[in-house]
Amino acid sequence: MDFDATQVALWRERTPTSKELWERTKELIPTGHGGGMGYFVPHPIVVDHAKGSKLWDVDGNEYVDLRIGDWVLIHGHCDERIAAAIDAQLERSVQIGAPEWDAAYRLAELLGERTPSIDKVRFFASGTDANLSAIRLARVHTGRTKVAKAAGAYHGTADVLVVGTSTLRDPADQVPIGVPAHAADEVVEIPFNDPDGAAAILEREGADLAAVLIEPVLTTAGMIPATSEFLQRLREVTERLGIVLVFDEVVTYPAAFGGGQAHYDMTPDLTTLAKVIGGGIPCSAVGGRREIMDLLEPDAHGGEAPLSIMSTFGGNQIAMAAGAECLRLLTPAAHERMARLGDRARDGINALGARYGIPLQATGLGHLIGLHWTDVPVVDLPSRMTGDREKVANLILALDNLGYYQTFTGVFFLSTVIDEAEVDGFLAALEQALHRLGYVDGGDAGTPDQAPIEVGGK
Ligand SMILES: Cc1ncc(COP(=O)(O)O)c(C=O)c1O
Repeated sequence: MDFDATQVALWRERTPTSKELWERTKELIPTGHGGGMGYFVPHPIVVDHAKGSKLWDVDGNEYVDLRIGDWVLIHGHCDERIAAAIDAQLERSVQIGAPEWDAAYRLAELLGERTPSIDKVRFFASGTDANLSAIRLARVHTGRTKVAKAAGAYHGTADVLVVGTSTLRDPADQVPIGVPAHAADEVVEIPFNDPDGAAAILEREGADLAAVLIEPVLTTAGMIPATSEFLQRLREVTERLGIVLVFDEVVTYPAAFGGGQAHYDMTPDLTTLAKVIGGGIPCSAVGGRREIMDLLEPDAHGGEAPLSIMSTFGGNQIAMAAGAECLRLLTPAAHERMARLGDRARDGINALGARYGIPLQATGLGHLIGLHWTDVPVVDLPSRMTGDREKVANLILALDNLGYYQTFTGVFFLSTVIDEAEVDGFLAALEQALHRLGYVDGGDAGTPDQAPIEVGGK
């Protein structure tokens, strides 16, 4: 991928201390990031501190954070109300090898109240744990082994979750290095947003399929919302064939009150959750139908549960307390506000495309925003891959240089602490980035001869 030399030079000029400290960290930690998350070319910023919607790098540059802690911090950085909940819990307990009262109960109750498909819930530490546990529950429930998932979807780092077509690798590379080839035998790939195509595959493979694992919005692959028709067909076919329908709402849960499933009015059998539900502390969950969740409950089976899945940190009280406070603050009004701002951002991106006659388009739902450079409507992985990802990556580099931080692939996240002015500032910066990279004519945005871009509000 070629990066614009001027933007790269500007980046280097703005962030010399980041480079120095990143190189020092890399001596101890591969990639320099504790979790190995993707970073920028030519080097990432190293962050000194963060608060609310902003973060500051070690060179003193300020950014509006549209990456929100790798999609976790729905109330922004260092929220004082969540910090107070953590402080209060620290006085009581952190990690107990017994049932405790009442941090886990409060989080479980909140999840069940706002997401009716969740009768019961179990806690884990990561999204990967949650998806593996949902698959195991589905296997025991059905007596089958295979899992169907959508082309391009990311569901975590485990073998069975990483085989298949990924936006993160060459599409021909179906089994990543380090994964045994037989992991692919357990996976069936279905096309996203293609109800007939997906149904035909599920019918063919149904006798071996334990679960369909699906995100209501394909997130890592570009913030591509499912159509209702697609999800309804998956529900109809899985019900008929006795396959467990699992919604991976690790990322989409804050897209609407009660999750993406509430937006689509869908009832999956199981839901997997992580990221926001711990309020910034590692936490994940599997929740769903009583009958399936009770495979973990000895008392539902004469004293011996058919399945035991353990997680040392599942139910850690700091995560439970922070998560419960995070959800309490995530009111219907907070969701509506984020969705309004999400529409404002998406409308603004599309308006820029129309105004300059360029194939810039936005996708997404609620606070989730995808940016694409293609005139093909982006509805699935193949249409997403028609886009010019080099242009998107350069736009992101230029946006970073203008103080808007986000992931490299063109996916952006709003939070409850982002305001209208920051969304409009982002759109103005995007327009400026288009000019600076020479992707549109007419001088730099913001000059007096440049009419302000119209941003839609709903
Ligand atoms: C949709 C989805 N599911 C699962 C995961 C895995 O979560 P974790 O990194 O906590 O294992 C991710 C991670 O980004 C994700 O995006």
